[in-house]
Amino acid sequence: MVSDARINPSILAADFVNMQADLARIGTADFVHVDVMDNHFVPNLTFGPQMVERIQATSPVPLDVHLMIDDPDRWAPGYAELGAASVTFHLEAANEPVALARRLRAMGARAGVAVKPMTPVEPLFDIIDDFDQILVMTVEPGFGGQSFMPETMPKLRRLRDEARRRGAQVWLQVDGGISASTIAQAADAGADTFVAGSAVFGSDDPTAAIAALRETVGAHRH
Ligand code: DX5
Ligand code: ZN
Repeated sequence: MVSDARINPSILAADFVNMQADLARIGTADFVHVDVMDNHFVPNLTFGPQMVERIQATSPVPLDVHLMIDDPDRWAPGYAELGAASVTFHLEAANEPVALARRLRAMGARAGVAVKPMTPVEPLFDIIDDFDQILVMTVEPGFGGQSFMPETMPKLRRLRDEARRRGAQVWLQVDGGISASTIAQAADAGADTFVAGSAVFGSDDPTAAIAALRETVGAHRH
């Protein structure tokens, strides 16, 4: 069903010195996906809480913060505090993922956990109820514009099946290489929340790009 799918454009593909104008172009999206990178967890650097706070004040849609950083136990709550609707940290980087998720929820944010393409999802099964969303990376995190990795789809299916078996309300998110030509595979495998950077901001008409992604998902969600 199209109504329960979300399209979250990633501002990693926006113009960093025209952020306000680029944010204004995605008012029909569900969330804006904000990639925080620290040059340690991934070999790239973006921005921190000061910039995210300005994005929060300027964005027409709520913030979906994706933390590609070391020591999220220390830093993630700051993003919930500044008002991000969801805060997602990497399982590979967290010391106490469940305790951190509970802190984020207590601060009013949706708690998310992300896994890199090679990280198994089975360790998440028993803690699935502690999360509002699980992000299965469909590229190695760090850069926009990479090719979608279809080999991550079996993992997404296993997660989808397990979530259904348990009646979990968790959203399943994909991020990396999502475009008009790859989004159907991810929707078929159970994703309901789709991050797209270059496919939206690389388009002359982001509103049309968002609508086209939504329409394809609507035909493939089941
Ligand atoms: C990659 C980031 C993604 C990135 C996706 O590490 O987490 O959010 O912006 O960009 P595209 O859609 O261009 O692959
Ligand atoms: Zn991301």
